[in-house]
Amino acid sequence: MKPNSASRRDFLIRTTTAGVLAPLAASCSNASDVSGNSPPVAIATWDNRRALTAAWDILVAGGYALDAVEAGVHVPEADPDDRSVGLGGHPDRDGRVTLDSCIMDERFRCGSVAAIEDILHPVSVARRVMEVTQHVMLAGDGARQFAIEQGFEPTNLLTEQSEREWRAWLDANNYDPEASAGYRPPINSERRDMPSIQESHDTCGMIALDTEGRLSGACTTSGWAYKVRGRVGDSPIIGAGLYVDGELAAATATGHGEEMIRAAAAHTIIERIRGGASPQEACRQAVEHIRRVTPSDPSEVQAGLLAVDRSGRFGGFALQKGFVYVVGLPDGAGEPDVAGTITDSVAVSGGTIYVVEAPYLIG
Ligand code: GLY
Repeated sequence: MKPNSASRRDFLIRTTTAGVLAPLAASCSNASDVSGNSPPVAIATWDNRRALTAAWDILVAGGYALDAVEAGVHVPEADPDDRSVGLGGHPDRDGRVTLDSCIMDERFRCGSVAAIEDILHPVSVARRVMEVTQHVMLAGDGARQFAIEQGFEPTNLLTEQSEREWRAWLDANNYDPEASAGYRPPINSERRDMPSIQESHDTCGMIALDTEGRLSGACTTSGWAYKVRGRVGDSPIIGAGLYVDGELAAATATGHGEEMIRAAAAHTIIERIRGGASPQEACRQAVEHIRRVTPSDPSEVQAGLLAVDRSGRFGGFALQKGFVYVVGLPDGAGEPDVAGTITDSVAVSGGTIYVVEAPYLIG
C-alpha cells in the first residue's frame, strides 16, 4: 500500500444541533439535507491557494458558487508566473499561446472555449458562451471573435520569458514536427516548488459548493507546453476536465488531457458517485479506469482528480505521486481527516485552506 493511500477516510462537514461545524463520517451523508444555509466548500487542483482564497471570499460572504469559481480561476489566468494557465502560459510549438477553458453551473448549464488566443480570461468568455448563446463550445478564431464582440480586450499573452523558453525549445528540437509531436511535458510540472521542472502543461480546475447548496466548477489552462498547433486538451471538454451535476456532485481534473478525454474522467467520477461511491472513492476508481484504458505507459502519464458532493464531502486521487490540491473549509470545521497528507494550511477569512498531497497509484 502506498504511504499516501493508507487512509481513505472521507470528510464531511455538517452543522451540528449546536450550530458548530464538525467533521462527521462519510456514512452520515445525505445530499438532500443541504439547503439554504450549508457550509461552503471549495477545492482546486495544485497549490492554487491564492485562487482558492479569491473564491473563498465570495463563498463565505454568501455568494454564488459560479461567481466564486470564475473569480478564483481569474487569479492564475492573470499571473504571468503561472506557466500553465493564461498570461505567461507556455505557447504551442508555433509560439502561439492558446487557451482552453470551461465553466458549469448547478443547472447543467455550461460554456466552453477551446484554443482561444489573445484573451486574458477565457473562463469569462466561456461563461458568456453559456449565458448569451445557444451553444456550449466555441473554438479558435471564432471564440476570439466572439470574445471581442462581447467586449473582451485583445491582449498579448506571450511574455518575454515564455518566448525565450519557447525559442530555446525550438533550437533544441529544430522544429522537427515528428519530434515535437512526440514531446510530453514532465509529470507534475505544475509544481512550482520543484525547481528542476521548467516546463508545464497544466491546469487550474476548481469546484465549489456555496451556502445555498449550489455546486459549480471551472477549469482553465494553456494546455500542453509546445503542443501541436490546434491541439485541444480536456479542460474545455465538459465531462472530461469538468462536470457538475447540481443534484449530486462536481468533479474536475488535471494532468495529461488526452487521458482525461479518453476516460471522460470528470463524468466518470460523477457516475461512480451516483452509483454509491464517496467522492474520494470515486476519484480513485476513475484513476484506476484511466490507468486501464491509456494506450501509453501509465508511469508516463499523470491524472489528478477532485470531487465534492452536495453534502460537502470531498476527495482527490492521482495516478502518480506528486499531485497536490487545496481545499477551503469554514471556521469550526476542524482539520479534515483526509485521504493523503495535509502539508500546509493557511487561515483565510471565515475558514482555512489546506494543502493536501493526494493519494496515488504509482510512485
Ligand atoms: N489538462 C490540461 C491539458 O492537458 O491540456
